[in-house]
This record gives sequence, C-alpha cells and structure tokens, in this order.
Amino acid sequence: MANEISTIGVLTSGGDAPGMNAAIRAVVREALTNGKRVMGIKRGYAGLLQEEIFEMSAIDVSDIIQRGGTILQTARCTEFTTPEGQQKGAEICRKHGIDGIIVIGGDGSFRGAQKLAALGINTVGVPGTIDLDVACTDYTIGFDTAVNTAMEAIDKVRDTSTSHERCSIIEVMGRGAGFIALWCGVANGAENVLLPEKYDYNEQALVNNIINNRKKGKKHHIIINAEGIGHSTSMAKRIEAATGVETRATILGYMQRGGSPTAKDRMKASMMGAYAVDILCQGKSNRVVGERGGRLMDMDIDEGLAMTKAIDDYEYLVSCNLSK
Ligand code: ADP
Ligand code: F6P
Repeated sequence: MANEISTIGVLTSGGDAPGMNAAIRAVVREALTNGKRVMGIKRGYAGLLQEEIFEMSAIDVSDIIQRGGTILQTARCTEFTTPEGQQKGAEICRKHGIDGIIVIGGDGSFRGAQKLAALGINTVGVPGTIDLDVACTDYTIGFDTAVNTAMEAIDKVRDTSTSHERCSIIEVMGRGAGFIALWCGVANGAENVLLPEKYDYNEQALVNNIINNRKKGKKHHIIINAEGIGHSTSMAKRIEAATGVETRATILGYMQRGGSPTAKDRMKASMMGAYAVDILCQGKSNRVVGERGGRLMDMDIDEGLAMTKAIDDYEYLVSCNLSK
C-alpha cells in the first residue's frame, strides 16, 4: 500500500483540554492493535524539536482516561512556525522512524501538521480544544467538560449574587469564539450573554436591562462575558456607576481547562483518537478528524483550515428570548 506506515508518533499541542488523555490512550492502543509502534512526543512541537521522544506501550496509558490535562504535556513553540523549524521536525521524525504523526490540538497545531505533511510525514489532526472553534468539526475534545465546569462555577456565583442583590459579570474562556459563553448563557439562565460574534458594545442596553429587571423584582443579574470581549473588571465599574447596583466581575480562567473529563469527552476522544490511527493505517495524510451530523469523518487539513464556524443564530436568539 502507498504511504504504509509502521511507527506512529503522537503529541498534544496548544492549550490543554480535558479528554486529551483519553485521545492519547486511544491512539496508543488502536495503533498497537494494528501492529504499529507508537512513539510519544512530549511538549508538542517544542518537544519534537528537542527530541523528547519515547516508545509507548499499552501500560503507559493505563489509569489516564479519567485524568484532565495531558500526560504528554503541551506547549506553544515559535521555532516550529519557521520553515527551518519544520524541516528540523521532519528530519527528527525520520531519524526516529516516525512515518505517521497524530497531532491533538486546535487550528494552530493543525497548521503545524500541514507543514509536516508537506515535508513527507503523514499527519492527522485530532481536534482538542475547550473553545469549540475548529470550523470543520461540530465537536472538539474538552468543550463539554469546560462548559460543565464553567456552568457549575457560575451557579455558585449566582447564589452569592442573589444574596447580595448584585450584578455579576462572569468572564468565560473561548479565545475569539463565543461558544462556551453561549452555552453558559443558556445553561445558567443568564440575563445577558456577550459574544464576540454578536455583541454591539451598547453598554447602555445592559444598564437599561439591569434597571428594568430590578423593577421586576429580580435579585441577581448575571452577565456572561466571553474572553474575546474581555475587560470585565472595567465594565463592572462602569455598570455599577451607571445603575447604582453593586457589580462584581469574576474571571473564571484556567479552572475551565482542568478537571476530569465528562463521559462525552472521554467517548468522543476515544473514537477520534482511534479513527485517526485507522486513517493513518489506510495511508491517508494531511487529514483532520472531526464529527459532522453525529458521525465521525475526516477531511483535508487545507480544506478544514479554510472553513469558518459561526454561532448558531437560532441558539443565540433563544438565549436572548429566555433571558427575560
Ligand atoms: P491551538 O492548536 O490550540 O490553536 P496555537 O495556535 O497556540 O494552539 O498553536 C499551537 C502550536 O502550533 C504553536 O505554538 C506552533 O508551534 C504551532 N503552529 C501554530 N501555527 C503554525 C503555523 N502557521 N505553522 C507551523 N506551526 C504552527
Ligand atoms: O484555547 C484554549 C484557551 O484556554 C483559550 O480559551 C484561551 O484564550 C487560551 O487557551 C489561553 O492560552 P494560554 O494557556 O496561553 O494562556
């Protein structure tokens, strides 16, 4: 078979996400089942360039499916964005006999995989990011856990917000995308949800909403603000001054990236990791694994990276309708 591979490398890159360990476990065990050797690469592309490479056996991925983070560690690596760095990475792969590589990460990491594929190393990307911002797939590993973690934290903030009759601005992660914010907006029953894709920066409308809700007897006012808008602390000061309602900002931060993955993340990660191995074994390269319409699929990385993903208009409309 053309492009037949014998040794598969696996790395995690970019921000960690709950479920990455389940994906690593699936890669290792599916590859071994198919008679391939597996090499773990530590610290993403940085570790590849440092040759932090070791052979993995089935026992190396025992007792990790329930753990957050990534046992391979992850990193961001500027050197790998240069042609020299990419050439060096491909040579190191060849030196260690790695002829196929599985990259678990987001769009940036897939750009790296694309470069390795162009240099003759078969590559497959597996979408692992809490942000859900990989356009070619409906699902990214880590999103479900992150949203549930954020939702539980916001419920707690709401308790104290209600007790003190305060307004709370709660900032959630998502980089430039508002998916985590939208889901928390609906799941937490927030009064306002500010998404980078939708927010018109009309703060007076927020102020009016808070004042109207007070008149209706609401004792809390939850504003979910996406990281892509940011500036929650200064926003809180302005809103308090304009409304007379005590307003606090809470930035949830990295807690959203940690913790034991949900069943959904473990399941999706296991399937995507195994599927990545299967398509490498079929001789495919420069592919990204994803889920569309509830089914596993793969597509060309170039095509995947050229796609865009929008907030669902209906979901946003309903989130607004239910926030009254
Ligand atoms: P994510 O994969 O979550 O989107 P980043 O955007 O930080 O995270 O990318 C992770 C790593 O992928 C970067 O640190 C870099 O090593 C590599 N990378 C990003 N963009 C490119 C690129 N255009 N070419 C090669 N490698 C890239
Ligand atoms: O991509 C995941 C993410 O947590 C984003 O939500 C956030 O913008 C970014 O990573 C933070 O990255 P860093 O770990 O470099 O602070």
